[in-house]
Amino acid sequence: MDLGLKNKVAFIAASSDGLGKAVALELAKEGATVIINGRNKAKLIQTKHSIEKVAKGNVLAISGDLANKEERTSVIESILSHYDKVDILVTNTGGPPSGKFEDLSMDDWDNTYKLLLASTVSLVKSIIPGMKQQQWGRIIAITSQAVKQPVDNLILSNSVRASVVGLMKTLASELGEYNITVNNVMPGYTKTNRLLSLIENNPSFATAVNEIPLKRFGNPEEFAAAVTFLASERASYITGTSLAVDGGWIKHIL
Ligand SMILES: NC(=O)c1ccc[n+]([C@@H]2O[C@H](COP(=O)([O-])OP(=O)(O)OC[C@H]3O[C@@H](n4cnc5c(N)ncnc54)[C@H](OP(=O)(O)O)[C@@H]3O)[C@@H](O)[C@H]2O)c1
Repeated sequence: MDLGLKNKVAFIAASSDGLGKAVALELAKEGATVIINGRNKAKLIQTKHSIEKVAKGNVLAISGDLANKEERTSVIESILSHYDKVDILVTNTGGPPSGKFEDLSMDDWDNTYKLLLASTVSLVKSIIPGMKQQQWGRIIAITSQAVKQPVDNLILSNSVRASVVGLMKTLASELGEYNITVNNVMPGYTKTNRLLSLIENNPSFATAVNEIPLKRFGNPEEFAAAVTFLASERASYITGTSLAVDGGWIKHIL
């Protein structure tokens, strides 16, 4: 299947490692021009080189903390100074701290709002004018299986990510007439540093594998394949959906 991704410009937020990196690599392999981001410059440059080794073409790397308003503005300005428009926007950041309600402060809640919701709103706001003008666009949010079924010890993620899904579903209605699709992808337990650090802080995360019908954690490449399809020309009639890549962990019928 030709995914129709050649020469599309894709910005994958928080992509120097983990799920974002796997998505950037897969899109680059399909011929998209990718822009990657992360806070740590050295790691970001390493990832740029590793993607360029595997896929043809240059990768643009722009460092900055997407939870920080000033840094985010500078990331966006830098993207738009290199390209007139972004065809594919994948929103993402690192995850919020784990913990139960009484372990967390109001600052934790404020920071999580900035990390998950404000970063997504702001990226979408700056990228949609170009998409509307060309009457083509793909917006994909990376959230979590937690938006369908709360995960123990992750109350910040369980609560604030639900607002990102509300945003995505509403944007799908508002932007459909411009041929912009908006979807949400929900990773399940996937082998990245985020999962390793959750397990390190709380070993109960390791036993979660028993609750997964496929009896294993996912690989970032398996997650990236789903995002790449949704970003493609072939997914032109899929919008407003939430796709789980969770090995069957979510137990809802629909
Ligand atoms: N892996 C899982 O099992 C799983 C399951 C459900 C949901 N999720 C969620 O999916 C998202 C990605 O997870 P992951 O497993 O890929 O995490 P990861 O392995 O920790 O990678 C996170 C990536 O994002 C960058 N990053 C983190 N915070 C950032 C920020 N504020 N601004 C810009 N870049 C930032 C990191 O680089 P720097 O540190 O250099 O910035 C790194 O490149 C997270 O929100 C996570 O909670 C993951």
